[in-house]
Amino acid sequence: MLYNFAMETRVLEIDPLEDCRKIWKEAAEVLAAGGLVAIPTETVYGLGADAFNAEAVAQVFAVKERPSFDPLICHLPNAKALKDICVIPAELQPLVDTLAKEFWPGPMTLVLPKADCVPDIVTSGLPTVACRVTSHEAMRGVARALGHPIAAPSANRFGHISPTSAAAVVKELGGAIPLVLDGGACSEGVESTILAPCLDEKGKPAVRVLREGPVTREKLRGLCKVIKPSKRQLEEEAAKTPNAPGQLKSHYAPNKPLLLHDPKTPFEPQEGVSYGLISYEGDSPLAQQDCWTEVMPLSPGSGRLAEAAVRLFAVMRAMDENEDVDVIIAEELPTVNIGAAMMDRLTRAAAAREH
Ligand code: TXA
Ligand code: MG
Repeated sequence: MLYNFAMETRVLEIDPLEDCRKIWKEAAEVLAAGGLVAIPTETVYGLGADAFNAEAVAQVFAVKERPSFDPLICHLPNAKALKDICVIPAELQPLVDTLAKEFWPGPMTLVLPKADCVPDIVTSGLPTVACRVTSHEAMRGVARALGHPIAAPSANRFGHISPTSAAAVVKELGGAIPLVLDGGACSEGVESTILAPCLDEKGKPAVRVLREGPVTREKLRGLCKVIKPSKRQLEEEAAKTPNAPGQLKSHYAPNKPLLLHDPKTPFEPQEGVSYGLISYEGDSPLAQQDCWTEVMPLSPGSGRLAEAAVRLFAVMRAMDENEDVDVIIAEELPTVNIGAAMMDRLTRAAAAREH
């Protein structure tokens, strides 16, 4: 569907020193009227619609040019509201309670059997719904003011890099949505961890990791059994019912080709091509080579994964926008803690150019 990109997009700044309830109310009014609002979370900005308004949700798919088989996450004001949109099997209730207590509000999404009131368009016809209680006041405040959950995918066009600032949202969707709430830079920078609580082969509660994120495997350790489906399993499942397309092989992609490279191995540039390097700390042997038009460190000097995660998508965008760079090379990152989620996103960004 062709969308009209000629709408005026208002950007409302969230000033933490002001009483924000006026802003939440204003955004909720736009949503209640069937409009869309981009709202910050601690991970990335979301493109929100009233989850109970199927027509508004259809607009989300249209504006993002997102295929209808890719379901949306419902954002709730608190964990108690879970019962409004899902029916938790008794045998999974203690595990859901533990996870909610440990990680909500925060960057975790739980996939659970859906209640009838959730329109099929939200879940792409799946019997489950993805639920999240973000730690960002804006999304929770607007959901509370609206009185309904907010269905919100990341506020980028389908397959593109997720926005971690209001300016990035405006670049992606300016002219197509009426309102953006500007809460500054996102404090996590990488999308939420998606977990599906389930029973393992012995009938014991466990979680399947559908997408890596800030609630890392290390953080889950000791709380419950963690099943990480292999990439092949996920791809095979996605082919049957494409149900978690952050699982699609290519996703999160810049417009330019992006290639991963080991920071300790020399890079052999092709003549006539200009390369930009996304480096972890900016001082690796790779970064010392003189073939780069630009080197952008993710965590300048300190090598902190959390700092790198916050900056990852902004740096990918900056490289994409640098007219002097033809091809982006990204250093492989350590796959511990949030590094696992970053490598997952970079691998998918690289895969976008494999075909
Ligand atoms: O951090 C985040 O999760 C951000 C913020 C805005 O909340 N949202 C986000 O949404 O990343 P999105 O739509 O870009 O990615 C959500 C992922 C998709 O890959 C989708 O397929 C998966 O969640 N998903 C949604 N409902 C699902 C379900 N019922 N079963 C399995 N996967 C589901
Ligand atoms: Mg997304």
